[in-house]
Amino acid sequence: MGQREQWGTRTGFVIAAIGSAIGLGNIWRFPYMAYDNGGGAFLIPYFFAMLTAGIPIIIMEFALGHKYKGSAPMSFARAKEKWEWIGWWQVFISFIISIYYVVVIAWALNYTLMAFNLGWGQDTKGFFFSKFLHLSSSPMQWGNIVWPIFISTLVIWFITWLILFSGVKKGIEFANKIFMPVLFILLLIMLGRAVTLKGASEGLQWLFRPDFSAILNYKVWTAAYGQIFFSLSICFGIMITYASYLPEKSDINNNGMITTFVNCGFSILAGIMVFSVLGYMATKQGVSIKDVAGAGVGLAFVTIPKAISLLPGAKFFGTLFFLSLVFAGLSSMISITETCVSGLMDKFKWDRKPTTSLFCVIGFILSLVFTTQGGLLILDIVDHFINNFGIVFAGLVEVIFLSWFFKLDSLREHANSLSDFSIGSWWNFCLKILTPIVLGYMAIANLIGDIKKPYGGYPMSALLIFGWAVVIGIVILSFVMQTGRSFSDKN
Ligand code: ALA
Repeated sequence: MGQREQWGTRTGFVIAAIGSAIGLGNIWRFPYMAYDNGGGAFLIPYFFAMLTAGIPIIIMEFALGHKYKGSAPMSFARAKEKWEWIGWWQVFISFIISIYYVVVIAWALNYTLMAFNLGWGQDTKGFFFSKFLHLSSSPMQWGNIVWPIFISTLVIWFITWLILFSGVKKGIEFANKIFMPVLFILLLIMLGRAVTLKGASEGLQWLFRPDFSAILNYKVWTAAYGQIFFSLSICFGIMITYASYLPEKSDINNNGMITTFVNCGFSILAGIMVFSVLGYMATKQGVSIKDVAGAGVGLAFVTIPKAISLLPGAKFFGTLFFLSLVFAGLSSMISITETCVSGLMDKFKWDRKPTTSLFCVIGFILSLVFTTQGGLLILDIVDHFINNFGIVFAGLVEVIFLSWFFKLDSLREHANSLSDFSIGSWWNFCLKILTPIVLGYMAIANLIGDIKKPYGGYPMSALLIFGWAVVIGIVILSFVMQTGRSFSDKN
């Protein structure tokens, strides 16, 4: 292996980091998270989490990746040899996310094609669950592979493979330079249309109305932190990996702030767009917002298509909406996948091309589980566990280890020495005290909550296999990966 690959330009890196951050999380997940967690009240913990955890952690990860010039496992190993497993844990989280994330992008691709003639019909719920997913009644009943989803999953894996295969500059940077401007244009067109719809203000009032009782609920805080971590692509190895491709002299602090603000701004704009459309639908049907919006996955694939069908220029708007999901999803998918590929390349000194090919083939085969009739149910379980017990716990371990058992200031000094502006000791306070306390509380509350009341009413066997076994299994595997050759071994 030669020298580590690098981004072509500073803008290239920022665009790629923003591309990773902005994803399905902003368009598909953020609106229903806000909806499920008290509308406007959700925004308070959300911004709190952004300022006290999101920004400090993204800067810490940029500094770590840049200073140690390695994928997540290599960077942790270079910080302290015994910590390699933390990096692998994050890589495995990315791996698990990649195999179901790809399928949601695939659904969006199918829906983009269907938007040309509003193929979802009037009964969008029945269509999505029965005709499109052919959903079975239990996650343990996989049934058959659903072929249209299989094909689009293959297509998305192929595009991902092609981009990663072409390298950091010619693949990832180049793709993001196309995807991101297109995505922003799509959003602006949709936003312009949505906010001028009759009834849009109803929806917006709902989104921004603060319900202060909700912020006393720890679940709302968990959701807000989870959303910030997922959306900023932090605590699962991505930003460490991307920063490792930065040239020697690269601003860290400013780039971290820009990525965070653009990402969260995008989420808010996407939320405004989605809720304007919902407000329009509610007004048109003479019902309240509460009665039109379905929570969870359903918001993007059931409620929005229904609302879109009622719009003037429905086919056009529908195509733009699902296309924006595809673009947003793809630019994140490549970062999630790159995190794994980069870890393997560093560890085994493999070349990019064979590593990418091997990884994408394995990823594709495993993601087939989610293209079966039980796919959505399994996805729901895996997503819940990987967010609540994967990302949250990995984030907790990361901040505690780096701020208590490591010279955190060495990372701050590294970042400050390269950046346009310096960060002060508030950064240490957030990472050392505030975030571990809030995150620690959340992690434990989550754990007790899930033990007391098994998630989603699913059969215990399914929760054990797709939930607990996955989140515990990847921690064990991370230690296994740490054994064997060390990063300092020469070829
Ligand atoms: N950050 C990516 C998203 O929001 C994973 O979808």
